[in-house]
Amino acid sequence: MKHVAILGTGHFVPEKIMTNADLEKIVETTDEWITQRSGIKERHVADEKTPTSKLCIEAGRRALESAGIKPEELDFIIIGTITPDMMFPSTACLVQAALGAKQAAAFDLSAGCTGFIYGLELARSLIIADPKRKILVIGAEELTKITDWTDRGTCVLFGDGAGAAVLGAVDEDRGILGTYLGADGNLGDLLFMPGGGSLNPASHQTVDEKMHVVKMAGNKVFPHAVRNMLEASMKAMESAGVTKDQLNLLIPHQANIRIIEAIAERLDAGNEKIYINIQKYGNTSAASIPIALDEAVREGRIKKGDLVMLVAFGAGFTWGAVLIRW
Ligand code: UT7
Repeated sequence: MKHVAILGTGHFVPEKIMTNADLEKIVETTDEWITQRSGIKERHVADEKTPTSKLCIEAGRRALESAGIKPEELDFIIIGTITPDMMFPSTACLVQAALGAKQAAAFDLSAGCTGFIYGLELARSLIIADPKRKILVIGAEELTKITDWTDRGTCVLFGDGAGAAVLGAVDEDRGILGTYLGADGNLGDLLFMPGGGSLNPASHQTVDEKMHVVKMAGNKVFPHAVRNMLEASMKAMESAGVTKDQLNLLIPHQANIRIIEAIAERLDAGNEKIYINIQKYGNTSAASIPIALDEAVREGRIKKGDLVMLVAFGAGFTWGAVLIRW
């Protein structure tokens, strides 16, 4: 084995679309404010009968199909999510059963919007330990189910979706060349959901006090997102001996167009070197990178031999980057 590579990708988003005009009817906001400050025009929203696992199952099937791998061949299913169907069992176990991935161990991973990147690095390490392994990594989220629809500072930002990738060992000059993961738990209270866990178990009081929704100090999070995604990108390139002028495509976490543009500018990535789909999906947290990756592959934006950088930042704080020779 030479490298661990992505063998196939897939994504799935719920059908229903919520536009900025729809949000204007719910909170005091405007299409102009949302577009200028975040770059978002619309987002997909799951209905009450569609839990996160449903999105994962469809995205997972599509990734398996594009990899040409059967569910029974999978050794692990890893799902990065902060909006699992329930506290337990893990969403990964629900997906394992639905896909019929009988041989796969399955678990969820909590790293906020960096969940998919953490999952890729974990899968890479598991495959280095045993190169026969095939692993399905999914980033999936239904943030609209933990959104405070009276808070205009957050409710205009989020959307639902899932993206997936199948990883395995290859004997070729392609695959993951460099990775970097980071975290800083000191800043956790800038982006969190306080209720529903062992600290504040669900009660009438926690519901009345709105503890079961996302709390974010957006303008305080912003500079950390830029700084840490840049740091992660530089470190991943450094570990692979690659320089920024060699990058073909940058796929950053889609949280805010201004964050994306700030990173692109510092990495000298012009329009042709950066993938942006935030206008269609909003911030889908752990799903944003695998959705964008799958779209980029299917649109022909990524060609064999290209150097692709995936980079994310999220709650925790957590951040990370994965550099891939496609
Ligand atoms: O996913 C990973 C982690 N998350 C992020 O990386 C998100 C990082 N943060 C952001 O993307 C941006 O901070 C936001 C998009 C959340 C907010 O943009 P901002 O430019 O930082 O705005 P702000 O929070 O500083 O608010 C500026 C003004 C405030 O009014 P005043 O105090 O200046 O009168 C807000 O009340 O905009 C107001 N505002 C709104 N106005 C209309 C906040 N939300 C809205 C809204 N519509 N939806």
